[in-house]
Amino acid sequence: MSILSTKQLTKQYGDKQNIVKALDGVNISIEPGEFVAIIGTSGSGKSTLLNMLGGLDRPTSGTVKVDNYELGKLKDEDLTVFRRQRIGFIFQNYNLVPILNVYENVMPIQLDGKKPDQKFIQEIVTLLGLEKKLLHMPNTLSGGQQQRVAIARALASKPAIILADEPTGSVDPRTANYIFDVFTELNRQGQTILIVTHDVALSKKVKRVVAIRDGKISSERILKEKYADRIKEAAIDWRNEDTQEEYAIVDKAGRVQIPRDILSSMNLQDNKVKLELSEGKVISSGPPAEL
Ligand SMILES: Nc1ncnc2c1ncn2[C@@H]1O[C@H](COP(=O)(O)OP(=O)(O)O)[C@@H](O)[C@H]1O
Ligand SMILES: [Mg+2]
Repeated sequence: MSILSTKQLTKQYGDKQNIVKALDGVNISIEPGEFVAIIGTSGSGKSTLLNMLGGLDRPTSGTVKVDNYELGKLKDEDLTVFRRQRIGFIFQNYNLVPILNVYENVMPIQLDGKKPDQKFIQEIVTLLGLEKKLLHMPNTLSGGQQQRVAIARALASKPAIILADEPTGSVDPRTANYIFDVFTELNRQGQTILIVTHDVALSKKVKRVVAIRDGKISSERILKEKYADRIKEAAIDWRNEDTQEEYAIVDKAGRVQIPRDILSSMNLQDNKVKLELSEGKVISSGPPAEL
């Protein structure tokens, strides 16, 4: 049973004259315990997708199901409660409350009289190295520290899934690596995590990477077996390693998007390709050049 899934999710912005299709039929399914990265260039639809998954915004069409709830069927008030209790959202700009100290930022809002699990929160705070910062105000912390507070806050309500928008977007490479390793550790402890990033090098440490292009899922990369247990090894130069295998996505109508590098090396003269099945492999080739 997946913990999060979408069906034909679309989101359009603007009016009839000026429509932007930010999401165009996204189908994705995430199992409990997975660590998934969504990768794509700026404007490809990553934040839009994450906002729909986190119930921060509603889709134009299609469905989102999280933790067995279909978000489209929840009223606004119920969606807000669901979001606070079951989704750990980490915003790109942290969104900490400036007038609250670290401890107060991390404590979950008590909506239904449920007492927060103090022991668990203590563990999170320690894991994230924040135990000496609890009484500090957000504006006295570095970007990396604020990011750690944002992660602690997202974890504090024991969410079904962590959704993080570019969690390493505005920190230095060393902090980015550290934050990635924190996510890896949380995932090892069973937390389901979905992050959005444009950092190809960091995404190489993730077991499953979903590529988004023009509002559509174009391909998936899966970590090769031999790297699975070596994610935290400092000796690996992730930038130069080919850690994952790439898979194209076949949609319901049988369409595939050919990865850009393969497409350009095919040297097509027009938009036609010939497909053949040969010894269990599909071979595609352009029409012969005219004589
Ligand atoms: N509120 C909005 N109004 C109009 N267009 C938007 C809005 N939010 C995003 N877009 C457009 O939707 C597309 C996807 O944006 P976004 O999801 O922010 O991409 P990413 O996070 O991958 O950079 C872009 O073309 C962007 O300009
Ligand atoms: Mg974005």
